[in-house]
Amino acid sequence: MSRRAPIEAQSVDAPLTSSATFLVLSVTDAPNAVSKVRSALASIADLTKNVAIRDLNAQFAATVGIGSDAWDRVTGLPRPAELHPFREFKGSKHTAVATPGDLLFHIRANRRDLCFEFERQLMDLLGDSVKVIDETVGFRYFDARDLLGFVDGTANPVGNAVNDAVVIAEEDSSGVGGSYVVIQKYLHNLQGWKGLKTEQQEAIIGRTKSDNIELDDADGDKQKAHKQLATIEDENGDEQDILRDNMPFGSPGAGEYGTYFIGYSRKLWVIEKMLEKMFVGDPPGLHDRILDYSTPLTGTTFFVPSASVLDSFGD
Ligand code: HEM
Repeated sequence: MSRRAPIEAQSVDAPLTSSATFLVLSVTDAPNAVSKVRSALASIADLTKNVAIRDLNAQFAATVGIGSDAWDRVTGLPRPAELHPFREFKGSKHTAVATPGDLLFHIRANRRDLCFEFERQLMDLLGDSVKVIDETVGFRYFDARDLLGFVDGTANPVGNAVNDAVVIAEEDSSGVGGSYVVIQKYLHNLQGWKGLKTEQQEAIIGRTKSDNIELDDADGDKQKAHKQLATIEDENGDEQDILRDNMPFGSPGAGEYGTYFIGYSRKLWVIEKMLEKMFVGDPPGLHDRILDYSTPLTGTTFFVPSASVLDSFGD
């Protein structure tokens, strides 16, 4: 049976779209900054309707996350049980860096202009109450491939399993209807990656490149593929899903090729465990080889409160 949250979640389960904007902001010390932010957050539902109606086929959706350091100041509400700043993981070769961020806007649509328009109206509302930390525009690349050339997003949960994996229910009254979301902006060394044979790339990812078929897991303490390192079980041996909506971004003229990782989960520890296994390795020392060709520039955790909580900021 699927356990539905009693209050309305934000549209974290929106479908994969062809365009997305990832906007990370900090809240400034300007007078009235917090009240301006609260009133903008309370307007998100109206702003969304305003833009979505312009083309209902474009599947416009926007979700808002609030960072750990800003939570108390912005919401004045009890803290969701697992909310804390992004945990840095330092392996022998690679580090999952922690970077600042008070607000995340994940803006999705099948039309770039709708994402642009929403962000324009949003920034008008927020004015001097925020400073931009990072703004990244992602695009869908052929059949949902990342810039490493692999289909990305296959193992995502579908149907009722999405809600179960992503939306907090009765286990945490301070977080009910909400989700944790973790972002990391990665830059790839595509030259180095292209220097590998296709079979070597496939062994790193854990799937075949052309037809996306899963490869067998490595036995014992051998080097594991990305797919295997990112598979997490709880103490009962039940696999723990997260919902990813990674997007390629980049600028060939500037030699910039990236993947914007974004993962939503009902349990923050699941994403943290994935990061630990990727960066520290499993066993420690055997890190995810994807990281030899991918460097995270950012790493931030946010809490995506329910739509009802956002509405309440307008009271
Ligand atoms: C699977 C790419 C970072 C979690 C995959 C797959 C690809 C991929 C191609 C296989 C197809 C699929 O199931 O989607 C990438 C790239 C990354 C990245 C290019 C960044 C450079 C991450 C991070 C996490 C993560 C940081 C978690 C913290 C997962 C999970 C799966 C997966 C959970 C599915 C595993 C399964 O088969 O059950 N990724 N990924 N990925 N990735 Fe990543």
